[in-house]
Amino acid sequence: LSPARATGSDALPLVVAHRGASGYAPENTLPAADKAAELGVDWVENDVQRTRDGELVVLHDDSLARTTNVEEVFPGRSPWKVKDFTAAEIARLDAGSWFAPAFAGTRVPTLEQFVRRLERHDQKLFLEIKNPQLYPGIEGETLKVLANEGWLDRAHLRDRLVVQSFSADSVRTVHELKPGVKTGFIGAPPVKDLPVYADFADQINPSYTSLSTGYVAAVQGFRGPHSKPLEVLTWTVDNAAAARRAAGFGVDGIISNKPDVVRDAVGG
Ligand code: G3P
Ligand code: CA
Repeated sequence: LSPARATGSDALPLVVAHRGASGYAPENTLPAADKAAELGVDWVENDVQRTRDGELVVLHDDSLARTTNVEEVFPGRSPWKVKDFTAAEIARLDAGSWFAPAFAGTRVPTLEQFVRRLERHDQKLFLEIKNPQLYPGIEGETLKVLANEGWLDRAHLRDRLVVQSFSADSVRTVHELKPGVKTGFIGAPPVKDLPVYADFADQINPSYTSLSTGYVAAVQGFRGPHSKPLEVLTWTVDNAAAARRAAGFGVDGIISNKPDVVRDAVGG
């Protein structure tokens, strides 16, 4: 199984569940991973940040306010930054009610809990290191959790794990710490800068809004000193028309809150 279609091939784009199947369950929670599994989606994207006492947790925003009841539980701790709360404090929060009452009591998972849940479903991880500038050293800590959970020793590691970030420095650090881990840079750097990115990234993952056929072809056609083709996965595509358009651009993968909708539109 390839983690993305071989550049230039006619294979279907890979479909990745963004923050889990977050169109149907609260983002970045265990139920969102479960929902992806239920839909038959192997790849799950998540966002990783760090608590005050050094635990890695799965959450998108740098604040807990939007996706938990932190304002109720800890009034007066505004602006409720993840980095200002301990893991024990975060474990008390409800990360499901904001999405729908049926998910009341859902917790913010630790990275460890999240990867264990993926393991149970035999799913694969698209891990984003979020806001790394707030968390010096998070790259090594992330790799340590993955190593402790046995993820770095897995056969076909590059077909089961991608670590990505908006921060080129963070992606480079991951690559330097563990060259065997597949990496992605989130964004759309100018084509002239691809030689720099190809030194540490295997993927260039632009927003759907910045996608064009020419850009996708230029990235996929780029050959660096090691002649390793760069892959292109795009985000966040939630309707059939956009999915077909992205597939028409030749992307290797599509990251979606509604991965079933994308799969039904383009296969994969
Ligand atoms: O996978 C890329 C995508 O997740 C980046 O955007 O804001 O949803 O983390 P965001
Ligand atoms: Ca993300």
